[in-house]
Amino acid sequence: MRVVSKKVLVGSPAARIVRISLFAPEISKTAKAGQFVVVMAEEKGERVPLTIVDADAKAGEITLIFQEAGLTTRILGSLSPGDNLHALLGPLGHATQIKKYGKVILVGGGVGAAEIMPVARAMKDEGNHVTSILGFRNKELVILEEELRNSSDKVYVLTDDGSYGDKGFTVDRLKKLLDEGKYDLIYAVGPVPMMKNVSLLSREYDIRTIVSLNALMVDGTGMCGCCRVSVFGRVKFSCVDGPDFDAAGVDWEELENRNKVYNPQEKHACKLFREGKG
Ligand code: FES
Repeated sequence: MRVVSKKVLVGSPAARIVRISLFAPEISKTAKAGQFVVVMAEEKGERVPLTIVDADAKAGEITLIFQEAGLTTRILGSLSPGDNLHALLGPLGHATQIKKYGKVILVGGGVGAAEIMPVARAMKDEGNHVTSILGFRNKELVILEEELRNSSDKVYVLTDDGSYGDKGFTVDRLKKLLDEGKYDLIYAVGPVPMMKNVSLLSREYDIRTIVSLNALMVDGTGMCGCCRVSVFGRVKFSCVDGPDFDAAGVDWEELENRNKVYNPQEKHACKLFREGKG
């Protein structure tokens, strides 16, 4: 659980996105695309789920990429090589179903670009034609473009304000692609509104769409019920039934509301952390 290396991918006043590699030999041996770990930075800290972006069994390391959004990710982002995490659990969740689909589109919004990386590599290795669509708010926040170009046949980068790549949203590019050609699978990770829009659009074209849901988690093992989501009207737990689900069945409104539940406490904790009182 030692931090082996750390790189700040984005360090702007608006956002900080950090990549860390951890020494976790057991996890690195079995981790597959789509799986995640639950991280506890400190003994009394909360547990946060983070996608395993890369696993190197030879070196015994796993790589995580996260945006500093709440208290725990800020603490994680403040660690240096040589520091230790309090606890790390994984690999958790079902791996993404990787097989030869044909033509696959991966959609990553914001830090979701990191989460589609292992899926892009695995889909490509399986012989799929991979198109990646990456969406960011602006040029400063663009991450992993080159890495995704190396594991995709085609990459489109969009920014909301047009400061880099094409101006617009990921669904705009997705619509163009679906109008122009035939695709066999869409896989999307990112903010809930983005995944919801991808899902609504893909339904019009009748294309199977998988989303990796970012529900709040506590134990990560199916015991607490915190990561509950409704899919086709049935209760599912993201940690043990997911995190991948058929987008067509997800109750997006419920997910959005549940993800906001701890926002006031999160804001308060972050304020204390900034003031050095946390
Ligand atoms: S995190 Fe507790 S049930 Fe999934």
